[in-house]
Amino acid sequence: MVGRLYRLPETASYGEPEVLMGSFAVKGDLIWTPEPGRFESLADGYITVEDGRIAAVSPRRPDLPVDDYSGRLIIPGLSDLHLHAPQYVFMGLYMDEELLQWLERHTFPIEAAFRDEGFAREAYQVFSDDLLRTPTTRISAFGTIFADTTLLLMDILDKAGFSGYVGKVNMDRNSPDILREATEESVSETLRFIEEGSRFASVRPIITPRFIPSCSDRLLSELGRIAADYGLPIQSHLDENLSEIEWVASLCPDSASYADAYDSFSLLTERTIMAHCVWLGDDEVRLMKERGAFVAHSPSSNINIASGIAPVRRYLDEGLKVGLATDVAGGSSLSLLRMVSDAVQSSKVHWRIADGSLEPLSLSEAFYLASKGGGSFFGKVGSFEAGYDADIAVIARDADRASRLLQPGIEERLESVIYRSAEMPVEAKYIRGRKVRGSGS
Ligand code: GUN
Ligand code: FE
Repeated sequence: MVGRLYRLPETASYGEPEVLMGSFAVKGDLIWTPEPGRFESLADGYITVEDGRIAAVSPRRPDLPVDDYSGRLIIPGLSDLHLHAPQYVFMGLYMDEELLQWLERHTFPIEAAFRDEGFAREAYQVFSDDLLRTPTTRISAFGTIFADTTLLLMDILDKAGFSGYVGKVNMDRNSPDILREATEESVSETLRFIEEGSRFASVRPIITPRFIPSCSDRLLSELGRIAADYGLPIQSHLDENLSEIEWVASLCPDSASYADAYDSFSLLTERTIMAHCVWLGDDEVRLMKERGAFVAHSPSSNINIASGIAPVRRYLDEGLKVGLATDVAGGSSLSLLRMVSDAVQSSKVHWRIADGSLEPLSLSEAFYLASKGGGSFFGKVGSFEAGYDADIAVIARDADRASRLLQPGIEERLESVIYRSAEMPVEAKYIRGRKVRGSGS
């Protein structure tokens, strides 16, 4: 057994984020997925928002002030279950390599630059500004090993109105000197990060071991205990790339699998997000299901750095919890709408080139994963139903200007926005009822 490196402080309080009080309504052409595989829509519908939550969805105008977006598509805020905020500066670059070389040659040196506060402040502000123009309202993001600039990232996202989790990354082995911590330092800086990061209203700390190759057994063991003691969620990477998986097998000879290695340190829980899961074995599927952990499906990244295609249909059939993720900068878009079409497309390629037993995802299934599926990690998020958090994204009027000439229905309009205009900005966005972008009209 490894000894304990820290003691739990006596007063650890993690309150609920404040909610915006008051009532109003949002009007437009509403579309959402109450269940996988089924769109529901309402033209000229009203969403009544009360104290940050959806109180009603109705064709009748409530007796309240209305933010009127008539003619625009309105979708639930989307949840990005996995992305790396510091990597946004090189999104779209260095795609000619596989994971381990990509990390060593490009990712690690650039993440090391986030030791510098001035650089980090500028880069994280650009990231937050650009993310505000997408339909994403919830995120689970990696920072870097540097606690101070990761706190700065939380501050910027919190001020912008985002909700979700940010993690200070842990790395104490197999990393360059410029991006490696001593084990004790990694633990003490994580504790400081948790203490200082708990002051933000709606962005919360998450335990973030980068992946097994970057973290010693002792560190993983401490992180599992910290997560349990503080009741914190956990995020990491699992079964992304074949060389990585081989490496993990040699680093963990006593573990039955990569997932089992995390599990042996109490890091697989119902509040864990495992990014990728391209190559889960049968036992790992069972373990992920038993523990209730989330799969963050990252189709853009998996194609860009040639990791493979995750058999998402199988995971859904087996009852795993699945959401979508951009995995910037492995993924080359900040837009979850783009991930919706990427998820459908990669499932079609898998269906054709594998044995044909796994049917491709439908558009509404993939949209469900980006909205209500991933949203369930954060609570009642990602649908237009009474009791759900009022996370609402208004798609810009011009996003479907060309295809609208064909007078399509709402569902067809959403489809064309997903495939043609994923990078088009949202016109307005609300997170838990608070308007974080746009003026309304
Ligand atoms: N595995 C460990 N670190 C990373 C990362 O930064 N990106 C991706 N895609 N996989 C990882
Ligand atoms: Fe990642």
